[in-house]
Amino acid sequence: MNQIDLAGKRAVVTGGAQGIGLAVAHRLMQSGASVALWDRDDDLLPKTVGELAGHGRVEGVLVDVTDFRAVEQAAEETVAALGGIDILVANAGVAGPTVPLVDYPVDAWHDVVAIDLFGVYHCCRAVVPGMVARGYGRIVNVASIAGKEGNPNASAYSAAKAGVIALTKSLGKELAGHDIAVNCITPAAARTAIFDQISQGHIDYMLSKIPRGRFLELDEAAAMVAWLASGENSFTTGAVFDLSGGRATY
Ligand SMILES: NC(=O)c1ccc[n+]([C@@H]2O[C@H](COP(=O)([O-])OP(=O)(O)OC[C@H]3O[C@@H](n4cnc5c(N)ncnc54)[C@H](O)[C@@H]3O)[C@@H](O)[C@H]2O)c1
Repeated sequence: MNQIDLAGKRAVVTGGAQGIGLAVAHRLMQSGASVALWDRDDDLLPKTVGELAGHGRVEGVLVDVTDFRAVEQAAEETVAALGGIDILVANAGVAGPTVPLVDYPVDAWHDVVAIDLFGVYHCCRAVVPGMVARGYGRIVNVASIAGKEGNPNASAYSAAKAGVIALTKSLGKELAGHDIAVNCITPAAARTAIFDQISQGHIDYMLSKIPRGRFLELDEAAAMVAWLASGENSFTTGAVFDLSGGRATY
């Protein structure tokens, strides 16, 4: 494992109770950061905080990222506990149903976009003023290969993730005059609890599209995020970092 220096940095990882967010939180802590896990899962969150506690400073904040007032409160709580927020990994997300657009329940379509796109917006909106005031920040938004390519039977998810990519490009340019980097990653499928939300046919489809012939490992995603979240990532901003095992050549 390469050593990334995040000593003294304070990080928020949304959706950090499990999956990619948990792997990222662990890697950031191994690199010396203090971490606040923001998640809506009141059962899993305390357990995950307990598991990570041996690796350094970690806080759990129960929050639903679709609720901007609650996100603002989570940011205040985190600043009070850790002293500031230098890093945001906006990772919380859901897959939603895997059905054709015409069969997609309208409420579910709205819910997926509310979490996967508005959730990222709310978190950036809440933490950017503090980063600008302190003149430093690293934001990594978790999009998806679906946002580049558009997966069939995942219209809400693909649209929301394409929105995250565009939000990242826009905010990166807005903040380029500060020492603040805003980038996103576009993972291919990784085996996490999110697979429970999607059909086996859809999982098979996603795997068949990956030239590497396997799923993304969580540590591979965490390694890329850790570098993007570091001070060494001082030039690149508004960019999309591919994690698709060769599916996307752009
Ligand atoms: N696993 C994959 O195949 C894959 C591929 C590409 C992108 N991604 C993206 O990576 C991110 C993490 O996915 P994962 O696979 O680790 O999923 P996961 O289901 O294992 O974890 C997601 C976490 O987000 C939390 N969450 C969901 N909605 C929330 C909300 N409204 N407010 C706060 N927390 C909320 C959940 O409680 C959960 O702990 C998601 O944005 C997902 O779209 C995943």
